[in-house]
Amino acid sequence: MTITVIGHGYVGLVSSCVFAELGNTVWVIGRNPEKLKKLSGGDPLIYEPGLEEILKSNLKKGNLHFTSKYEEAISSSDIVFIAVGTPSTPSGQADTKTVFEVVGKLTPYLKQGFTVVSCKSTVPLGTNKKVESEINKKLPKGADFAVASCPEFLREGFSLTDTLNPDRIVIGTESKQAADLLLKLHAPLPGHRIVVNLDSAELIKYAANCLLATKISFANLISFYCERSGADVEQVMNAVGLDKRINRAFLDAGAGYGGACFPKDVKALISIGHGLGIDTGLLNSVEEINASAKENVVNKIIKNAKGKRIALWGLAFKPNTDDVRSATSLVVISELLAAGYSITAYDPKAATNVKGIYPTQISYAKDKYSALDGADLLCVVTEWDEFVNADLKKVKSLLKSPIIVDGRNIWDPSQMKEMGFTYIGVGKHT
Ligand code: UGA
Repeated sequence: MTITVIGHGYVGLVSSCVFAELGNTVWVIGRNPEKLKKLSGGDPLIYEPGLEEILKSNLKKGNLHFTSKYEEAISSSDIVFIAVGTPSTPSGQADTKTVFEVVGKLTPYLKQGFTVVSCKSTVPLGTNKKVESEINKKLPKGADFAVASCPEFLREGFSLTDTLNPDRIVIGTESKQAADLLLKLHAPLPGHRIVVNLDSAELIKYAANCLLATKISFANLISFYCERSGADVEQVMNAVGLDKRINRAFLDAGAGYGGACFPKDVKALISIGHGLGIDTGLLNSVEEINASAKENVVNKIIKNAKGKRIALWGLAFKPNTDDVRSATSLVVISELLAAGYSITAYDPKAATNVKGIYPTQISYAKDKYSALDGADLLCVVTEWDEFVNADLKKVKSLLKSPIIVDGRNIWDPSQMKEMGFTYIGVGKHT
């Protein structure tokens, strides 16, 4: 099949590479000529394990083409995926401006015969129906189309594994022809096939992300109970998670969730709920607890540091990515700077992105150990493997005071105590 994917962010680029890997011809449309040039040369522009390799190999095979021109790509495509960003507006709604911009650009070039126009972007209820009516207004003579919602469930850091081994492939459409074409495209991939209507598909994506965010906030809420009693949140969640109806995933308490998805999607579902006259109290609490979880880490630093020099391990919103959108590190940095602390940070991949926000206000260490030199406290907010496996004797010898605030509970408190650290985790009685 010939596919066009509009957008080359995490979802767009990973899906494009996977569809090309499955033997399809894939056109990727972007706006920025410089970025397109880099992509065509095999630079994925983002750090994602395995992405550069799959990008380069499909460029070499000639399956993957990057362009800014709609005509060439759209007029030869059986399926057009829209995978552009839908960021939060100041009021929390998902901004679908770019979705409709690209719909306007692609419509004139829809080929004679049938095309599926499928949204992979996370969009509010009713968006795909609006896309359908926008296309209908300017549909070229002889062209036929159907819209479909094909939400994406990949996680950053595991995006290739997730896309190649999905739990489910959700196809929302009112058209059998569109469903059949999308089923054919995904045929080589494992996972359940869920064919539903447009509204259900749009809501499945928000419901999944918001339920995962709810699990995290629930674990963080329980961690507050633990800190005010003698309980330990990891022991509590390990036991709770053994119930198959609940399961242990996404019950790690800590420095709160970040990234480009959960914060935005919880806000958007609240906004959709307001529009529908629904009480969104549960989701409001999920957001509030998440903000408290981040605040909790900052308070632990301020309460325990014996001086004003802080070493910060981790800038990315989670390991195996260079993404710092809504990362806890940014809250820690902004609050500590406001309180007069100096910060030396280290992250294996994400420092460049934070330098764009704080070019000179904090220092960036070249490795994890040099970040510690003379620091009054070490705070960990991202659980990269290289932190989990750090040489703790070396850590202790480099810190001015052996005090650690561990926002991701990566070490064992009793072992840390034995080694002579003042060790403050999350949801642990101290
Ligand atoms: C999330 C979903 O997991 C994907 O299924 C979805 O496709 C994606 O959003 C999206 O909408 O595009 P992602 O944001 O990449 O994926 O990362 P997650 O692994 O879900 O982690 C999100 C945040 O939750 C991170 O900050 C992580 O540290 C935090 N988290 C996760 C916890 O604080 N506790 C946990 O137990 C799990």
